[in-house]
Amino acid sequence: MPEFRIPTVATGRLTLRPFVAADRPDYAALRADPDVVRFLPGGEALVPFANEIAESRIAAFRDAWSRGYGVWAVEETATGAFVGQAGLASMERSGEVEVLYALARPFWGRGYAREAAAAALRFGFEQVGLERIVAFVVPENAASSRVLEAVGLRATGDTDYNGFRVRGYEIAVAEWRRTAGGS
Ligand SMILES: CC(C)(COP(=O)(O)OP(=O)(O)OC[C@H]1O[C@@H](n2cnc3c(N)ncnc32)[C@H](O)[C@@H]1OP(=O)(O)O)[C@@H](O)C(=O)NCCC(=O)NCCS
Repeated sequence: MPEFRIPTVATGRLTLRPFVAADRPDYAALRADPDVVRFLPGGEALVPFANEIAESRIAAFRDAWSRGYGVWAVEETATGAFVGQAGLASMERSGEVEVLYALARPFWGRGYAREAAAAALRFGFEQVGLERIVAFVVPENAASSRVLEAVGLRATGDTDYNGFRVRGYEIAVAEWRRTAGGS
């Protein structure tokens, strides 16, 4: 058992909670959907998404929380349905912390990604004490760019990410306090 506690965060309509082994089929289905992984760097290679990979990813999600932040399973509070994943992750090379999210298709278009991303930023800045949070989006992923801009990140220019051309985004804690998160 880990020595750290993985927090649960309630938003207006969502519950961001620790991933558990029982999420394996839902998580595997999420990551096997070509429309979900289309814009995730390297995502194509994960289709079909084997159960064993889902299991090890879920374990890795839990372990990563030893840093004090990580990726949650996102649940629709009213129904208990598995909506997807969202949270914060440490980037291997730069050590920057990125906000990320991926939702199952039936839950797109309801503002859920914005709600989850906003909660992840608030957690990172208020609970973890991060100075800055970044994100990377392939330019074709207009929905994700909208989500990032809606929660206050601004584009910093295009860059290379694991061989993919991506648009960088960032927000510093001072900007966050002044804008969306400060209210
Ligand atoms: C990106 C994703 C998380 C968006 O989820 P969502 O819950 O539908 O997002 P929201 O409803 O919070 O907001 C989406 C915004 O994008 C807009 N949008 C949606 N599809 C769009 C499209 N094809 N083109 C332009 N804008 C689009 C919506 O109108 C909305 O904008 P608004 O806030 O001005 O109304 C979801 O599509 C997803 O999981 N995609 C696959 C994984 C992924 O790409 N993750 C991000 C990697 S960087």
